[in-house]
Amino acid sequence: MAPELTPVLSRGWLDSEPWTLAGYQRRDGYTAVKQALRMHPDEVIQLVKDSGLRGRGGAGFPTGMKWGFIPQNDGKPHYLVVNADESEPGTCKDIPFMMANPHELVEGVIIACYAIRASHAFIYVRGEVLHVLRRLQAAVREAYEAGFLGKGVLGTDFDLELTVHGGAGAYICGEETALLDSLEGKRGQPRLRPPFPAVAGLYASPTCVNNVESIGSVPAIVRNGVDWFRGMGSEKSPGFTLYSLSGHVKYPGQYEAPLGITLRELLDYAGGVRPGHRLKFWTPGGSSTPMFTEEHLDVPLDYEGVGAAGSMLGTKALQIFDETTCVVRAALRWTEFYAHESCGKCTPCREGTYWLVQILKRMEKGEGTEEDLGKLLDLCDNIVGKAFCALGDGAAAPIQSSLKYFRDEYLEHFERGGCPFDPSLSTAWADGPLSFARTSA
Ligand SMILES: Cc1cc2nc3c(=O)[nH]c(=O)nc-3n(C[C@H](O)[C@H](O)[C@H](O)COP(=O)(O)O)c2cc1C
Ligand code: SF4
Repeated sequence: MAPELTPVLSRGWLDSEPWTLAGYQRRDGYTAVKQALRMHPDEVIQLVKDSGLRGRGGAGFPTGMKWGFIPQNDGKPHYLVVNADESEPGTCKDIPFMMANPHELVEGVIIACYAIRASHAFIYVRGEVLHVLRRLQAAVREAYEAGFLGKGVLGTDFDLELTVHGGAGAYICGEETALLDSLEGKRGQPRLRPPFPAVAGLYASPTCVNNVESIGSVPAIVRNGVDWFRGMGSEKSPGFTLYSLSGHVKYPGQYEAPLGITLRELLDYAGGVRPGHRLKFWTPGGSSTPMFTEEHLDVPLDYEGVGAAGSMLGTKALQIFDETTCVVRAALRWTEFYAHESCGKCTPCREGTYWLVQILKRMEKGEGTEEDLGKLLDLCDNIVGKAFCALGDGAAAPIQSSLKYFRDEYLEHFERGGCPFDPSLSTAWADGPLSFARTSA
């Protein structure tokens, strides 16, 4: 039997106005912060360490450990920066969470800042999502008015300012050091590490950069305890998380479930692959994670399970593609994204992604040769591990993995002198209007 869904971050999303302070308080909102403020900050860090919460921004680094790296009694200001830049293709969990439940993020921010002794926090949101910016700003305003933010939070001597900052919309500004440069008003490009942000981050002061979902998970852990959290998922990947299913599934959306659930089980909840079609390939964690196929349907979707099967859990953005999709075309689209978003700082990524696009374009039109496949892999080899930041490695992942599983499909393009697929068949309207979307809540 499939593990049950565990609506924690997504609980109350269908309530009336769940984003308001009153709505959040009806769901025990702001009770965790009261508990946390009665604890010593180090106890809060220890609690998050004991819970085993791993960062939900992609790399899965333990959140409590990251908080523990912030040096204490160093006389410098400390900062918490929430990474809400979300823009990897397929990744779409932080935005719905912030729209439906912004106060849970604000409560997590207060607890995290108290723990790391920060008196100023920033939520860095991509500027294009104006509706999310407005929703967050309204929640922050309500939290100030209720005394959860500002001077003397809830009558204690803990002061906290929270700034919602709109970025200009660049994928690289999700990379934590580029984000810090952008927040400082510079062009967002990754910084050389060390020093790491925990030592010299925002304005060269100790800074914790955490994903929205990581910080948003903290209030529930404080409220319900370590054993409750560890009662879900596996020993090394405990807890609940948001899986985002998109593409060719009957009911795309957010499915909050214990870590370690499989795609086969999630597909049961999502109504399966769109009617009349079968699964061809899928990404376990967004476009920068090597793709999987049908043979991976039973891989446990936790950090260890996905890693052992040759990919990465990443942001748990499960993009599902059925047999109507041309894998060469999909790889080309993703590569165009990476070439466009390459910040240009280092040669392997700046030049490499450009040439990958040129070759893939030719291949999709059936104008490539088998020799070009070697060239493509050679280019990927010259990017992976040689680029300045992880965007370069991510750009190579769809190409390398598509060639691993679908080399014959590339060859078929060359043999036919064209693409064997009709792209219109993979669209949402191919089998009639809204053929695979839920039309009512
Ligand atoms: C190109 C690139 C884009 C990224 N975009 C995001 C993002 O939008 N949101 C995010 O939380 N992390 C993103 N990351 C990962 C962050 O650098 C960082 O690991 C993360 O914010 C840490 O938070 P966590 O420990 O809570 O997971 C990105 C990394 C790279 C290389
Ligand atoms: S890998 Fe790409 S995005 Fe990262 S620093 Fe180099 S050019 Fe910029």
